Amino acid sequence: MEEKNLITKTELFVRETLKNSESGHNWFHIERVWKNAKHIGQAENVNMLIVQLAALLHDIADSKFHNGDETIGPRIAKKFLEEQEVDNEIIDHVVKIIENMSFRSAYDKPSFISKELQVVQDADRLDAIGAIGIARAFHFGGYKNREIYDPKVPPDLNMTKEAYKKSTAPTINHFYEKLLLLKDKMNTITGKQMAEERHVFMEKYLQQFYAEWNGEA
Ligand code: ADP
Ligand code: NI
Repeated sequence: MEEKNLITKTELFVRETLKNSESGHNWFHIERVWKNAKHIGQAENVNMLIVQLAALLHDIADSKFHNGDETIGPRIAKKFLEEQEVDNEIIDHVVKIIENMSFRSAYDKPSFISKELQVVQDADRLDAIGAIGIARAFHFGGYKNREIYDPKVPPDLNMTKEAYKKSTAPTINHFYEKLLLLKDKMNTITGKQMAEERHVFMEKYLQQFYAEWNGEA
């Protein structure tokens, strides 16, 4: 199949599969990550077909909604690409990216690394910070019925993977436990620059948040 057709077909498959998904991982998240990935990828020496397929398929099934099964997303992506008769080499690479990309798997030893993985990972991480990241965090917290903030519950920076998944802490803590750490984890120069701006925005947001909380603004 021609590259352009394959990408369009993948886009349609992802749109259809995610049409009833919650808003943190819906098609709009994928579309933003796809755009970020294309933008970041331009400045890197990467295979843009692999970057785009991985960006489109990276959240095709969320383990959180499948009893923690972290193999389901990569399996669905693999099956779809096999049905499109994509070269095995490309399928393998895309599937490895999906398996190794998430923040959660950063607790495990990375078993695979590539320039293409780094581009897509940066693109996904960017969507967790800045104005969009703030919206997604409070959306997630609301979905989990969490407090927005509780001064008596300090952030926990040394959580195990299991504790992180089970945490019921207020959403503000998530900024310290994950969001503010992401800028130093960026892989690419373009990703770092974009993350820096979004990071500064989150810091300003938190300043204003505490000022309002304390009746000082
Ligand atoms: P990803 O798909 O990027 O690996 P997650 O599934 O962990 O990320 O999270 C999806 C979105 O929900 C992200 O924007 C993330 O910051 C947010 N989120 C995840 N865990 C929490 C939490 N404990 N509190 C607030 N937001 C969270
Ligand atoms: Ni994602």
